[in-house]
Amino acid sequence: MNRNIGVKEHISQKVLSIESINQRVRNMEYAVRGPIPAKAEELKLKLLDPEGSNLPFKKTVFCNIGNPQELGQKPVTFLRQVSALSELPELLTKENRNLISNIFNSDVIERAEKIQKMAGGSVGAYSDDAGIFGIRKSVAEFIQKRDGFPSDPSKIQLTNGSTGSIERTLELIISNENVGIMIPIPQYPLYSASITRLGAKSVYYYLEESKGWGVDTSRLLENLKEARNRGIDVRAIVIINPGNPTGSILTLENMKDIISICEKEKLVILADEVYQTNVYMVDDFPFHSFKKVISEMKSNVELFSFHSISKGMFGECGKRGGYMEMYNIDQNVMDQLTKMATVSLCPNVPGQIALETMVNPPREGDESYQQFKAEIDEIHNSLKRRCIKLQKAFNEQVNITCNPAQGAMYLFPQIKLPQRFITETINKNKVPDVEYCIEMLETTGVCVVPGSGFEQEIGTYHFRCTFLPQEDEFDEFIKTFSEFNTKFMERWN
Ligand SMILES: Cc1ncc(COP(=O)(O)O)c(C=O)c1O
Repeated sequence: MNRNIGVKEHISQKVLSIESINQRVRNMEYAVRGPIPAKAEELKLKLLDPEGSNLPFKKTVFCNIGNPQELGQKPVTFLRQVSALSELPELLTKENRNLISNIFNSDVIERAEKIQKMAGGSVGAYSDDAGIFGIRKSVAEFIQKRDGFPSDPSKIQLTNGSTGSIERTLELIISNENVGIMIPIPQYPLYSASITRLGAKSVYYYLEESKGWGVDTSRLLENLKEARNRGIDVRAIVIINPGNPTGSILTLENMKDIISICEKEKLVILADEVYQTNVYMVDDFPFHSFKKVISEMKSNVELFSFHSISKGMFGECGKRGGYMEMYNIDQNVMDQLTKMATVSLCPNVPGQIALETMVNPPREGDESYQQFKAEIDEIHNSLKRRCIKLQKAFNEQVNITCNPAQGAMYLFPQIKLPQRFITETINKNKVPDVEYCIEMLETTGVCVVPGSGFEQEIGTYHFRCTFLPQEDEFDEFIKTFSEFNTKFMERWN
């Protein structure tokens, strides 16, 4: 990837120049929002003016990022109603009670009132630095119900999206340039980007495509040993489950093996579980949280686990709600994390409110329950249908193989690119999967992310595609892609 895209060649007279700024920031890469999505944005604007009529498509489709509401997913009513009422306190006064009772269910009103109280009377005030205590309590109850093991609200921090938790944890762990963090290949590039920014080393382990993207633990051990032999102080491992970009779910056995390795090799686990409810083959591939498995094993492995309102069925990416749970972490270390939370004042309160509705949804018998359940089931079932359909469409292409997505929001098909295309592209100093994805965008308006943005086994090429376009657009989307790929292959073979 060309990390200096957009950098103008000139000598700057300013104090801040591209050379004088923090070079770690300059070196950071984030393909999900890199040059290809930037190009897609340009094309989207072009479609609005007369020039756009020359383009071979009528619409840009952003399949580069797991941002469901951008692609038409409707917000969950309960969440938005509670948020709306919490934001406008006049609506909760006695005088307006009759008025709002005509519009909102009683459980929505009760929840908004409870949130007002928990927030100390106004959601416009800074909250507790680690997030409103009552909401942290709801998170702990949610975890306890999910896993069957106790969870302690004082060991939970709410943050701006799970990104806030992940960045905070990495900053805590990375004490010097020699620290290594194990991250999967392929990985979600927040990790490699943050590790670069914080000046540490990414140490790769591999997800095995031929084994449904599971972790080959003996290979992982080799990678760890090799990094330690090079003098790297490998301290932690990131595990994304369900996987992004792979869509895979780890088996219980695989998780136990990983935990045993971490125990023996003294590795802290960073469990990224933001897709924990995006599970589509639940009988064969259920989700298990690391907290639960570590508890069952009575292991003392140190764990940070992350969750978010951006994914699952809520897809509230813009509200920036998330949390982390700390387990088996030394109290002195947690105190430092508390200090970090204090310095950032507090996570945004609207995001916390949304999180409260996710971890503490309407229960059977509550007035909003039926509608809530119907909305969640519909989103879940539709995602499942779309994921199966897209995987089938990819596998129908002669040059594409695609593992099923057991979870998450993505497929990560492998494309066999023609050798002549690979050679010519590399000779031009370009990256084959990037060029394939650019051509896909320019021909079809569909924006995906090349596999090289997530790292991939050398000599293989992939792209990541969300299955988030709405169902009524899906057939057209698949048809356009298939036509593009067939013509591409005919041209280069
Ligand atoms: C695996 C994974 N972790 C974390 C995040 C960050 O999400 P957020 O900060 O919106 O919670 C994402 C976003 O796509 C993701 O895919």
